[in-house]
Amino acid sequence: MAGVSEDADDGGGLRRALGPLHLITLGIGAIIGAGIFVLTGHAAAGYAGPGVVISFAIAGLGCLFAGLCYSEYAAMIPVAGSAYTYTYATLGRFMAWIIGWNLVLEYLAASSTVAVGWSGYFTNFLAGFGLHVPAALAAAPIAGSSLGAMSLTGAWFNLPAMAAVLLVSVFLITGVKMSANFNNVMVAIKVTIVLAVILFGFAYIVPANHTPFIPPNTGEMGHFGWTGIFRATGVIFFSYIGFDAVSVAAQEAKNPQRDIPIGILGSLFICTLLYMLMSYVLTGIAPYQTLNVAHPVSQAVEAHATTRWMAPFVNIGAIVGLASVMLVFLLAQSRVFYAMSRDGLIPPAFREIHPRFATPWKGNIITGIICAIMAGVLPLDVLGELVSIGTLAAFCIVCAGVLVLRVRLPNQPRPFRTPLVWVTAPLGIVMCLFMMIFLPLDTWLRLAAWTAIGLCIYFLYSVRHSSPQHSSALQ
Ligand code: ALA
Repeated sequence: MAGVSEDADDGGGLRRALGPLHLITLGIGAIIGAGIFVLTGHAAAGYAGPGVVISFAIAGLGCLFAGLCYSEYAAMIPVAGSAYTYTYATLGRFMAWIIGWNLVLEYLAASSTVAVGWSGYFTNFLAGFGLHVPAALAAAPIAGSSLGAMSLTGAWFNLPAMAAVLLVSVFLITGVKMSANFNNVMVAIKVTIVLAVILFGFAYIVPANHTPFIPPNTGEMGHFGWTGIFRATGVIFFSYIGFDAVSVAAQEAKNPQRDIPIGILGSLFICTLLYMLMSYVLTGIAPYQTLNVAHPVSQAVEAHATTRWMAPFVNIGAIVGLASVMLVFLLAQSRVFYAMSRDGLIPPAFREIHPRFATPWKGNIITGIICAIMAGVLPLDVLGELVSIGTLAAFCIVCAGVLVLRVRLPNQPRPFRTPLVWVTAPLGIVMCLFMMIFLPLDTWLRLAAWTAIGLCIYFLYSVRHSSPQHSSALQ
C-alpha cells in the first residue's frame, strides 16, 4: 500500500529508530498477502499458466523503480496521506485529487480483495472441521470479470468477507495499535507458511504440470502466450503493493540515505524470490487450470496426498496474514480520506476525530460499509485488477512528480535521493504504463467510470470547498 504508518501523522517529532533489518521486515509485512495467497491462482488459471513465474519477475522490477522514486517523495514530505499529500505539494490540487481518488480505489478495492481471499481460506478451514458455510452465503452473486460475460452464481453475498471487513473496522475505530512485535509475529507466520509450501512442495512437482511452461496463446490478447504473461503481470502486481510502506518510514530511519533503499530493495528482492518460487511450486503440484479459486494455495497442497497435511496450516497462516493486511489497508484508506478532507476536497465528516478513541471514526465507518459491500458482491478478479490499475496510475504520477520536483525545487533538502533519477523515474513510468496497457479493457472502463465519478465530485464539491494545507509545504 502507499504506506501510512501509525506514527506518521503530520511528521513531527518522530524518533529515528529503524535500522535496515526493521525496514526490510516492515516491507515484507506489508507486502505478503492476498496477492500470493489468492491472485496467483487466478492469474495462472486465466492468463499465464506456469508462466506466471515470469510475471512475478517483471512486476518486481517495475516496483523497484517506482519504489526508489517513492522514497525520495516520502522523505521530503513526511506527512499523513502519502502520495496524495506529496502530489498536492508538487503538482497542485487537481493532480492531487486524481491521485487521491486513485488511492481510494486502491485501498477500498484492495481491502475488499483481501477480505474475499480471507473468506476463501476461512471457509476452507472451517470445512476441515465439517463446518460448512452455506454456499449462498460464501460467494459473490456475480462471476466473470468481463462486462459482456458476467453471470449470476446463484449465491447471495460473501458473508465471511463482509464480516471480516466490519470487524477490522471496529478495531480501527477503537484505536487498535499494531506494535512492532505484533507485526514481527505476522511476518514470521506468513513467511514460514510460504517457505513451508516451497520446501515441502518442491519434491512433489509434477513435470507434466509445467509443460508447456508458457501455454500457447488462445488467439485472444492476454490469454496465455507472452501477452498472457504481461496481463498476469498487471494482475499480480497487486502482490507487491505495500513496499512503499518502507518509504513512508523514511523520517524514522536511522540513516535514510542508506537504509531506505536497503529496506525497499531487500523486501522487494526477498518477496520476488519467494513469489517466483511459490508460484513455481503451486503450478507444479497442481494443474494451473484448477487454481482459479479463492484459496489456491490450500487447493494446490490438497491436490497431492503427500502434501495434504499442510492445508490446515496454510489456511491458518493465510487467515492471520490476510487479516493483518486488511487492517493496514483500511487504516490507510481512512488516512487518505482524512488528508483529503483536511484540505476541503471531501466533506468534513471524514476528518472528524472521535472524542474518546481519537480516530477518524466517521471515515472508518463509511470506508468499512463501502468496502464490506464491495467484498460481499464483487468477484475477486474484478477487485484485484481494479487495485492494480489504480495503483499503477498513482505510481506513474509519483515517478513524474519526483522529476518535476527536481526541476522546480532543486535545492530542497532531500533525506533520500533516487539514484540515477533521470533513468529510474522514466523507467518506473514506462514499466507501470506497460503493466496497465495489458490489463483487460473492462478494467480500463471501470477506471474511466471511477475517474468520471471523481471528476464530478471534484468540480461540484471540491473546487468550492478546498482550503489547501499543503500547496506551499515546500516553499
Ligand atoms: N501486497 C498485498 C497483498 O498481496 C496487497 O495482499
